Parts: sequence; C-alpha cells; structure tokens
Amino acid sequence: MQVKPKVAILATGGTIAGAIDSSVVTTGYTAGVVGVEALIKAIPELVNLADISSNQIANINSCDMNDTIWLTLSHKINELFLTDIDGVVITHGTDTMEETAYFLSLVIKSDKPVVLVGAMRPSTAISADGPKNLYNAVALAADKNAKGKGVMIAMNDKIQGARGVVKTHTLNVDAFSSPDFGDLGYIVDGKATFYNSICKACGKNTPFDVSKLSSLPKVDILYTYSNDGNAVAARALFENGTKALIIAGSGAGNIHKDQKNILKELLKQGLIVAVSSRISAGLVAVSDEDKAFGFISAGDLNPQKARVLLMLALTKTKDTKKIQEYFLKY
Ligand code: SIN
Repeated sequence: MQVKPKVAILATGGTIAGAIDSSVVTTGYTAGVVGVEALIKAIPELVNLADISSNQIANINSCDMNDTIWLTLSHKINELFLTDIDGVVITHGTDTMEETAYFLSLVIKSDKPVVLVGAMRPSTAISADGPKNLYNAVALAADKNAKGKGVMIAMNDKIQGARGVVKTHTLNVDAFSSPDFGDLGYIVDGKATFYNSICKACGKNTPFDVSKLSSLPKVDILYTYSNDGNAVAARALFENGTKALIIAGSGAGNIHKDQKNILKELLKQGLIVAVSSRISAGLVAVSDEDKAFGFISAGDLNPQKARVLLMLALTKTKDTKKIQEYFLKY
C-alpha cells in the first residue's frame, strides 16, 4: 500500500472560517468563527490527498494579525518539519496573508512546502471558494514537486510565491497576483503544475532566526501624499518607541519635502527609514544623496512586506548598509 504524504493544517481564521446568517451575502460576515475540524470535515476528499493533522493556532480576522501569532506559527512549523510531516497548510484571512507568507518565507528553516490558503467568500456563501482552495492547498503541500519552492499561497487555482504575491482585489475570488514576479503555477484536479520557480527568499538560506524570540522590533509605515501631514506623525511615532519607518513614497519612492525634512532630523537621532512606494509594481529609486543621508531603498518590496523584512533585519543589526544589503538580497 502506498504511504500517503503527511500534511499538517494550522488554522488562524479569516473568511475561509467566516460565517453569516445568509447564503447570498458575502460582506458583513464575521471572519474566524468556524473551527479547523469543521473546515476539514466539509471536504471528505482531503483523505485521498494526505494524512491530515490539524491545530487551531488562532481564529481571527487577519486584519488583527500580530507578531505573537507569527512567532507561534514559525516555531510550530519549524518543529513540525523536524518530524515526518511533509508539508504544512495555513488557513488564513486574505487581508494580511501576503505579510504572513513573506515573514514565514524568511524564517522557516526547511525545504518542505508551506502553503497559505484563504477564501474571499465566507463558508456560508453560495459557491464559497474556501473548500476548493483548501483542497488545492493540501494537494500542493502534499506534492513532491513543491519541495524547495518556499512558502506559497494557493488561491483561485493559482500558486503564488510568498515574495511576489500581493492582494490585488478587495472582493473578487481572483484576489491575488504577483505583479513583478508572475505566478509560480496552477492547480487543476488536485495536481500542481509549476512553470516558474522564483524563490528569492527561502527561509533555509536567510540569516533570520526567530526561534528564541518572543517579540519583534517595532516598525511602522507612513504614506506620503500631497499637502503632506505625515511629518507630524513621523515624529510622534519616533517619540513613542518606533525604531524604524517604512515610507510608502509616491512614484519611484519620492517623499513630500515637509515629511522628508523631519525624517532627516529623525535619522540623525537614530530612526531607521526605508523607502518603498504606493505603486503596486516596480522598484524605488533612492538617490545617492539620500542614501548618504541614511535612507534605505526597499527595492521592489511593497510597504507591508518591506516592514516585515525591516523588522527581521533589526533583529540582526542597526547598520543601515547591512540592512540595505538585506533589501537587495531578500
Ligand atoms: C481576513 O483577512 O481575515 C478577512 C478577509 C478575508 O479573509 O478575505
């Protein structure tokens, strides 16, 4: 008899575990109310794919995601990968899924696949997308060819890599894409096909080790915009303990002059500043003059992912040149 792959499902909540007292309503529901056992029971076909174990890590709307859950997930997954588990699936809200995926891609010390999955329609909706997405995610985590692909997202039959994936639609079931990197592949009838193998940041190869950490450095994000008011906010955040800021700049990383003047003052006082962009694709261009001042380029990472990398970078160093190297590499 053929031995089935072993897949652990770690549940954190989201719309995939959401419910509302109507089958035609797909907004206004409560995310993170259905337990992992019920999610699994709703798809009897999962047993054909793998031997499943499960663990309810949290049951929240992912807009409330926090460092404690991230650290719990990373500790748990690294532990599971020391056993005979072949792959891990994480059920997760879609709102911050890309941040959790990128965080895990930087800290999981294994080649085994980790697949995040969610849904855009609550479990109670007509044509809920959760069950099919979860079926696909388990198929992907159980797939031998998924080894070495890093942390992935399985949504709407597509496979996306943690580094490039972005949520690009508020409500449509086709809510994720990878503007700069492209999809990794797709899943049809429980079979994954890969046509791309970008894995810029795979945990096994990164210097970031959170195994002994119970908290992460505080990094915040500030937008820049016309008639900019965030100069005041930058100072307020710094005075309240923020160690570093990601600036969601305009265009290729431009910052309103009022905000920039304050940032220059705060850089001299020890604040670390990395420049990202409000634009959904492309690199930022930080001038040599600004680099000399201490501004770091976040490259092509969007603000929410740049924040993840900067938090992890600060667990290693405060040297802006070293942090810049991390942004170029990961
Ligand atoms: C959430 O992110 O938890 C709510 C939205 C979703 O899962 O689509």
